[in-house]
Amino acid sequence: MDAELLLAHVLGVSRTALLTLEELPDGAAARFAALLDQRAERVPLQHLTGRAPFRHLELTVGPGVFVPRPETEQLAGWALARIAGLDSPVAVDLGSGSGALALAIAQEHPGARVTAVERDPGAAAWTRANAEARAAAGDTPVTVVEGDMTDRGLLRDLDGAVDVVVSNPPYVPDGAGLPPEVAEHDPALALWGGPDGLDVVRRLLDTAARLLRPGGRLGIEHADQQGVALPALVRAHGGWTDVEDHPDLAGRPRYTTARRA
Ligand SMILES: C[S@@+](CC[C@H](N)C(=O)[O-])C[C@H]1O[C@@H](n2cnc3c(N)ncnc32)[C@H](O)[C@@H]1O
Repeated sequence: MDAELLLAHVLGVSRTALLTLEELPDGAAARFAALLDQRAERVPLQHLTGRAPFRHLELTVGPGVFVPRPETEQLAGWALARIAGLDSPVAVDLGSGSGALALAIAQEHPGARVTAVERDPGAAAWTRANAEARAAAGDTPVTVVEGDMTDRGLLRDLDGAVDVVVSNPPYVPDGAGLPPEVAEHDPALALWGGPDGLDVVRRLLDTAARLLRPGGRLGIEHADQQGVALPALVRAHGGWTDVEDHPDLAGRPRYTTARRA
């Protein structure tokens, strides 16, 4: 599949258009071979094409930003369902990277007022670029804030006013084995979450609790092994009801949700 997607990228056509391809234009074979070599060296497909699909979006990605993953699409869908009946809900995405969650919410709920927070200046440049591209394409503009989701002073103007907070934070336990596409190409700040992977999550709970209005919702993605630990952490934090964990489409524990008491 990756080979087909790379060839389609070289030719500027869809993958299905390859079915009727009879011969390659001049130079295409050499460009294709060079990309195949890089992919064989475990450079991520999305860095070679410069694009990553996410729900109805195609985001620009490359070195310095986390490549959005399909399993995160469900968290966006969950958040959209929670704000479906509201005219102009307020949503915050903590640790936005490419902007995937924030931009999907803005695109699929045009009335939403969405803020994307990203701490890493290099990644924030990608957040801004994608946000500007989507606004130019007609989606509801998203506010991008370069800041730390664990900072007590973050987004003070939204205290108690937010309807939904989503986050796909760094959650990989220190020292965990990762494939080269991830370990060598996703930024370290996007991955590592301390000894049990939950260092950032522990601190983002305070921020989310402060931002959400009573009854507002929180959704946090987590690693396969954190489907018990993360809900337990939220319950122990206090101030939350309806704490639940949800599987991804492969049936693996993937995100925890809660309602602000
Ligand atoms: C796993 S990536 C997720 C990116 C994007 N939300 C997605 O789902 O594709 C985590 C992101 O959080 C950012 N991040 C890590 N620690 C942060 C912090 N303390 N405050 C804000 N952003 C942070 C990283 O730079 C990275 O872009």
